[in-house]
Amino acid sequence: MGWLENSTAVITGAADGIGRAVALRYLEEGAKGVVVLDRDLEPLSAALEAHPNRLIAVQGDVREYQDHVKAIDLAVKNFGALDVLVGNAGVYDFRRPLRSYSAETMSETLDEIFAINLRGNLFAAMAAREALIASKGSMIFTTSVAGIHAGGGGVVYTASKHAIVGMIRQLAAELAPDVRVNGVGPGGTLTSLRGSEALGQETRSMADARDEVAKRIGDAVPLRFAQDPEDHAGLYVLLASKRNSRAITGEVLMSDGGIGIRPL
Ligand SMILES: NC(=O)c1ccc[n+]([C@@H]2O[C@H](COP(=O)([O-])OP(=O)(O)OC[C@H]3O[C@@H](n4cnc5c(N)ncnc54)[C@H](O)[C@@H]3O)[C@@H](O)[C@H]2O)c1
Repeated sequence: MGWLENSTAVITGAADGIGRAVALRYLEEGAKGVVVLDRDLEPLSAALEAHPNRLIAVQGDVREYQDHVKAIDLAVKNFGALDVLVGNAGVYDFRRPLRSYSAETMSETLDEIFAINLRGNLFAAMAAREALIASKGSMIFTTSVAGIHAGGGGVVYTASKHAIVGMIRQLAAELAPDVRVNGVGPGGTLTSLRGSEALGQETRSMADARDEVAKRIGDAVPLRFAQDPEDHAGLYVLLASKRNSRAITGEVLMSDGGIGIRPL
């Protein structure tokens, strides 16, 4: 028996990277069905072919409330209920420092990154709330090392990830005892995470400098390796499993190679 037998999930930003690893792992753990909401479905095509009955893709933008409603409705109609929401879609700022902003680019970058990284998750939570209360399910959000430390991003990305931690705590308090709300905080992970359009980084990807990124992260963390998306997937399984984490809410589980125990 898998840990998620008969469960259903909606996962945002799961066509690629960490979200896709979570979607595939949920299927491996016996999930009845997973709905992916992403603005670019191309990287998911092989997985969609491999799981024609249990994986459904919705092309949409997490900044649009109706796209979340569509994804949640599809999960409930096709698989009978919604047990887990994973809010994961995000964009990066490639560590842009304050000194390089004009007032105009700051304004546009904040609007874009907060709309995707924070509003996208709040819209997902709003759209999923009733279905998750009905199933006594759970929400899991992807935050980051940048959600609790400095240095994982620039000021706008770091602020957006700290905001997700605040959102998790508040929603956990509001939705208890019906729905558990938790987060996973990955460290530097080898994905194709993209940058902000307002900063002209929309075609830039962490994968462009994969070797350099892998070395920088490996040198910086006590466990001495840059993580792969699959390294985090088990935590999303744990937090989704009613049997194995029913007493956990309002927490962020870090998966970052030990950043918190770096020597001073
Ligand atoms: N890669 C890292 O080092 C790292 C570290 C910590 C946290 N994270 C977080 O992990 C999450 C997943 O990122 P990843 O590294 O797997 O990158 P990724 O680019 O592989 O995955 C992000 C997905 O989100 C989608 N997306 C982006 N904006 C969207 C929008 N407006 N609407 C719908 N979909 C959208 C992308 O198309 C992509 O499929 C993000 O929230 C990111 O901030 C990444």
